[in-house]
Amino acid sequence: MHISERALAIQESAIRKLDAAVGKAAGVHFHRMNIGQPDVPTPRPILDALAAEDGPVLAYGPASGLPECRDAAAAFHSRTSAGLTREHVVVTQGGSEALLFAMVALCDPGDEILVPEPYYTNYNGFATFAGAKVVPVPTSLDQGFAIPGDDVLDALVTPRTRIFLFANPGNPTGAVYGAEQLRRVAAWARRRGIWLVADEVYRAIWFDAPPLSALNLEGHEDHVIVVDSTSKTFSACGLRVGFLVSRNLQLMERFERLGQARLGPQPRGQRAAIAALQLPEAYYAEVRHVYKSRVDAMMDALALLPGVAFHRPAGAFYTMARLPVDDTERFARWLVEEFRDTSSGRAESVVVAPGPGFYADPRKGRDEIRLAAVREESQLRRAVELLGRGITAYNAQ
Ligand SMILES: Cc1ncc(COP(=O)(O)O)c(C=O)c1O
Repeated sequence: MHISERALAIQESAIRKLDAAVGKAAGVHFHRMNIGQPDVPTPRPILDALAAEDGPVLAYGPASGLPECRDAAAAFHSRTSAGLTREHVVVTQGGSEALLFAMVALCDPGDEILVPEPYYTNYNGFATFAGAKVVPVPTSLDQGFAIPGDDVLDALVTPRTRIFLFANPGNPTGAVYGAEQLRRVAAWARRRGIWLVADEVYRAIWFDAPPLSALNLEGHEDHVIVVDSTSKTFSACGLRVGFLVSRNLQLMERFERLGQARLGPQPRGQRAAIAALQLPEAYYAEVRHVYKSRVDAMMDALALLPGVAFHRPAGAFYTMARLPVDDTERFARWLVEEFRDTSSGRAESVVVAPGPGFYADPRKGRDEIRLAAVREESQLRRAVELLGRGITAYNAQ
């Protein structure tokens, strides 16, 4: 029977790739640094709202989301970007569906999406859903993953280019783009007639200075779309509530239509999202403190490993590190299948995400891995220590 080219083209998630091998290794304690699933407890008001009585019928909700949830998201974004109201917000099933909606609404089959590389792997999957193609914009660890100059961007544009998509703060890089860089790229995109899609799902997790939301790019209101999510900010990845925010009302109407085609996101989740969006400012300070301590612990431990290069994250909770090994795909699998450290009295190993999964061309990133600081500090230090021992043992084979 026929299976579509699109379904066949969807890649296995680079982040989940090693899961089967981990599942087979009985009796080993794995330090999981490969997945961005934090262990931070979800705030109590969110859990309480989820548990609240919903009435006798679990009814459909509106296609663009509950009005009160859209209001809460608009009020939340208005704290940093003035003048947003309900009509500028559509609720989605996580940031993932928001990205998918953006690509479907802005791309016809065969269209192209520019994305600074390395990038969040699932952008490939969303683009495949939309029949579009990711075109990587090269960035490098040595340059702090900065977006290259207009001349480089110009060379990548074709008549099919529709979107410049970027995550700020970045996954997998932890890079935060400064205001000047964002303004330059926005001006470039405007000149070229290209939409700017800013994936801001990590916007609350920054360490030095808050990233500028693309909603604040003056003069660019009509070609900017922001993707937001409750997953990381509120440690609520399983809630599956995200948002599309744009001041372009014509586009918002198209998102409403897409929403109608799949019926509204679950109302119960949205009520929990309202509770999340109403948390006090002190909550965000605490989130930043937690991740800063973790990222610092991870980076300080990495700095002790000979031959390892990295860029210190300014936001989110990941880093791309360059390792002195021949092939990080092989190395990551070897860690899971072969490497066991028994110095603590139990068998321990570490799971990392190999670099090639974050590049369009899998021959790239072969000396890089992504690490996620989603455990508390002592566990991260231990995980990085094991990584160092793993590198030594792997290279001694
Ligand atoms: C950069 C980026 N965008 C979007 C998502 C999707 O998030 P959500 O859980 O809201 O679908 C993730 C999840 O890890 C991510 O890292």
